[in-house]
Amino acid sequence: METGKIRDDFPIFQERTELSYLDNAATTQKPAQVIEAVEKFYSQNNSNVGRGLYDLAADSTKAYSQARKNIAEFIGADADETVFVRGCTEAVNLLASSLDIEGRMALPELAHHSEQLPWRENFEEIDFIPVKDGKIDIDAAEELITQKTAVVSVPHVSNVYGTVQPVEQLVELAHENDALVVLDAAQSVPSMPVDFHELDVDFAMFSGHKMLGPTGIGVLYGKRNLLEEMTPYQVGGGMVDSVTKQEVEYKPAPEKFEAGTPNIAGAVGLSAAVDYLRQFEPEEILEHERELNRHLVKQLRTIEGIKVLSPVEATITSFTAEFAHPHDIAEVLNQNNVAVRAGNHCAQPLMEKHGINGTVRASPYIYNTEKDVRRLVRAVKEAKRVFDV
Ligand SMILES: Cc1ncc(COP(=O)(O)O)c(C=O)c1O
Repeated sequence: METGKIRDDFPIFQERTELSYLDNAATTQKPAQVIEAVEKFYSQNNSNVGRGLYDLAADSTKAYSQARKNIAEFIGADADETVFVRGCTEAVNLLASSLDIEGRMALPELAHHSEQLPWRENFEEIDFIPVKDGKIDIDAAEELITQKTAVVSVPHVSNVYGTVQPVEQLVELAHENDALVVLDAAQSVPSMPVDFHELDVDFAMFSGHKMLGPTGIGVLYGKRNLLEEMTPYQVGGGMVDSVTKQEVEYKPAPEKFEAGTPNIAGAVGLSAAVDYLRQFEPEEILEHERELNRHLVKQLRTIEGIKVLSPVEATITSFTAEFAHPHDIAEVLNQNNVAVRAGNHCAQPLMEKHGINGTVRASPYIYNTEKDVRRLVRAVKEAKRVFDV
């Protein structure tokens, strides 16, 4: 991967030349191509969508629907199955509130709070699937997923360990038991080829800001027949075919779920992010992340008192230190221009399982280099000198 050339596309690295940004699982930086697409939309095409009859309104509506089509193609979906939302969190809330379904829910204990809490509000009976060596324990899942299970939720890539989960096996298991499968693709769509049709998941979601796009835009994917059956949890302008004092007729999906003025510029920006990501070979980003993590895990393991939770083939490195709290380590890293996340990563039940209050998490992306890895390791050694007294 030509990281030097890639970094040149990111204005933030021209400003902060010494920054080792390793918090990409939280959010990624934005290339000029995305920033320019948003700016161009506002300076040349801005209007509301699906409403005005003038040329500018037609241009804006066209840009919005082209963005949807482009993003849908990128994730192996059709445009009418691709609902724009604010991000993953909104997508799961929309789904959990709109899906009229009863039964038990199977939820891996490593699920992000955004993947857990909306379901926990709406489902009374949750079966937590345990995790073994950073992955969902399939044997345990086989015991827990039964004909009583209505929905199985699966994170594609863990935001704590950076491990790819056995999605295909879980889809098979869920469908054998007539349960729906919901894929949290927040950490996979940015880094690996993902085709929702091929995976045969019933619903899926991801956030644009974790894949070079703007904040406030993401996608809920749903199989057409399932979206058709669902009642929208928000209603308002733009999503109705007709309204009389007696009756309301909703538009079909995806508009049915997009009440009010949507994030048009966000969709245009996310479409530009997708175009940017298309320059990479299918497994190139994943391999690049794995390569950097391999080095990171190996070097961290040589430091006494450091415990690495992520396996060596992961795309994210989570670790703890016997000699300091994760926040203290992160502060020393910060003083050395290394930005990482420290905390529970919105996965408190998983932290509880490990008997810890958090980890330090380094998550590389397309613009990170060996230099970032070396700097991080050096700073961890410095933290050990400071705190290990
Ligand atoms: C696996 C996973 N799911 C869901 C989310 C929630 O995404 P957002 O905050 O963009 O809604 C995140 C964000 O960290 C995540 O890592």
